[in-house]
Amino acid sequence: MKILGIETSCDETGIAIYDSTVKKILNKVYSQKIHSKYGGVVPELASRNHLKKILPLIKSLLNEKNISKYDINCIAYTAGPGLFGSLVIGACISKSLSYSLNIPLIPINHLEGHLLSPIIDKIINFPFIGLIISGGHTQIIKVNNIGNYNILGESIDDSVGEAFDKVARLLGIEYPGGRKLSMLAKYGVNNKYKFPRPLIKNKKYNFSFSGLKTFVSNIIKNIKNIDYQEKCNIAKEFENSVIDILLSKSISALKNNNINNLVISGGVSANTEIRKNFNNLGKKNNIKIWFPKLYLSKDNGAMIAYVGYLKYIKYFKKNKNLIKNNLYINSRWDLELSELLYKKIK
Ligand code: KG4
Ligand code: ZN
Repeated sequence: MKILGIETSCDETGIAIYDSTVKKILNKVYSQKIHSKYGGVVPELASRNHLKKILPLIKSLLNEKNISKYDINCIAYTAGPGLFGSLVIGACISKSLSYSLNIPLIPINHLEGHLLSPIIDKIINFPFIGLIISGGHTQIIKVNNIGNYNILGESIDDSVGEAFDKVARLLGIEYPGGRKLSMLAKYGVNNKYKFPRPLIKNKKYNFSFSGLKTFVSNIIKNIKNIDYQEKCNIAKEFENSVIDILLSKSISALKNNNINNLVISGGVSANTEIRKNFNNLGKKNNIKIWFPKLYLSKDNGAMIAYVGYLKYIKYFKKNKNLIKNNLYINSRWDLELSELLYKKIK
């Protein structure tokens, strides 16, 4: 079967088709550039851009791959969490398409998309510990099975991606600065600075990154005429601090739950140094480390299409009485927002 996945939770319009017969993904992402000059995503501009791009993107994917819209068997879309206006665009287009083509519609939690993105092309045994590090969220989750999750901890303030972007901005890098900051860090010298590692000693699994950002901000304010090398040194120590925190929380979650499978996903999981450090941790401690393919790290429709397929197998196939648009999934953050969304757009 062919599942169309639609992702519009933030500033990426992601369209994909997962073909379960050949286990193949066709994927297209449009990343909105307009926000860079504002230093962050402007919600109104994001929704307007989704509206402009979403149908042309769907049409071009179908045309390029010679697929008719009548070949699509099901639609999965991001129902939340995310920017409300952006989500509404994806929801409206998905609902209209599902209604006109008379095919099931499955709302997907964006974080579940990230969480399961590495299993699109790999077999990973349950249970595993999932670490989601994205622009909007930082969560550590015990994944017992598909749809059966225990959130062990999350950020109590900024997400990791947000911290990367804010520190990047302090160093004069355009939004989203995470990737460019990590490129500066490559040329940074270790131990030129010592930044805090918030909550690293706390036994719980929560994270806090806003104090770290403020600490960096104060350091930068006290440097007169900051030069390129100094920027690299700051970026290096910031990245080191984030990595230490992520490694430490992940190790304790693995140990305390007696699990030796760790999945790291979300936009920040594209970071080379993070991948290197987690892979080393895995080798040293005999832990299996899994990352999504790079193009699946950032927001995309492929992960939504794939999770849609998993939900379809689990719910629709078994229960023919389930009416479309009325799929309930067992997890805390599932569908809270999508239900709100239904009420708004019905
Ligand atoms: O998952 P994602 O595409 O969107 C959300 O769901 O939020 O994550 C985007 C975040 C941004 O904060 C971006 O700066 C960060 O991922 N990011 C990176 C890297 N590539 C993307 N952060 C650090 N290093 C990178 N290489
Ligand atoms: Zn995301």
